Amino acid sequence: MKVTLDELKAKPMPQHIAIIMDGNGRWAKSKGLMRVAGHRVGVQALKNTIIALDELGIGHLTVYAFSTENWKRSKDEVDALMELITEFINKEIDYLDEKGVRVNPIGDISALSPKAFDSISYAKEKTKHNSHIVFNVALNYGGRQEIVRAAKAICEDVKRDALQIEDIDEALFSSYLYTAGQPDPDLVIRSSGELRISNFLLWQIAYSEFWITNILWPDFKKEDLWQAVWEYQNRDRRYGGVSK
Ligand code: IPE
Ligand code: IPE
Ligand code: MG
Repeated sequence: MKVTLDELKAKPMPQHIAIIMDGNGRWAKSKGLMRVAGHRVGVQALKNTIIALDELGIGHLTVYAFSTENWKRSKDEVDALMELITEFINKEIDYLDEKGVRVNPIGDISALSPKAFDSISYAKEKTKHNSHIVFNVALNYGGRQEIVRAAKAICEDVKRDALQIEDIDEALFSSYLYTAGQPDPDLVIRSSGELRISNFLLWQIAYSEFWITNILWPDFKKEDLWQAVWEYQNRDRRYGGVSK
């Protein structure tokens, strides 16, 4: 049975969706194409997802675009991914800005190619006052790297007496992460069927709901997002308690 927009809107929406956009390479292979062709169509699927999210009125999206482990891939593939970041920004920045999207890179973007670094920095600066949708793009991102980075920053602040050890709690720790001030993801979507988290948002997903589909990312459609949200809306989030 297909869910309708009215049915979705009648129930509480997730505030924040995080997506592991996986399966571009397999999509390309299944069509006899180069891996980069899959990444290219994957970018289009991302654009459609942002439009669909806006239609649902969801205000936070985090997407995994390049992990700290993805440097293991061939130079050609890494170069192509860097190029696609710049292409995506050049092509979509005005649209994103008009829609009130705040582009917020998360991860160590200083290690990206200079062109990718410049375009993502430009997008961040240009959209920094937008608040309709916060769009976190994980680039050279690793969950463990993020936690270590936060721990170091906290130590620095303790060392210079800006912070007392007694003041360190979960809320304070969260405020040192890239996602400071944002709600944790309610729903994590992973395409292409892998049953793993691949170092994504380790801290923030402590109580997220998971929705995993065999659909490969370039084939991911609005209807799939709707299905994920619908199933999320019908789950019982107990947070360790008991059903109401
Ligand atoms: C996800 O697709 C995109 C990135 C990791 C950049 P993959 O490239 O991982 O596709 P598969 O998993 O090889 O099919
Ligand atoms: C996770 O996908 C990273 C991104 C989607 C950017 P991978 O394809 O890199 O993850 P593994 O290798 O299947 O764990
Ligand atoms: Mg993959």
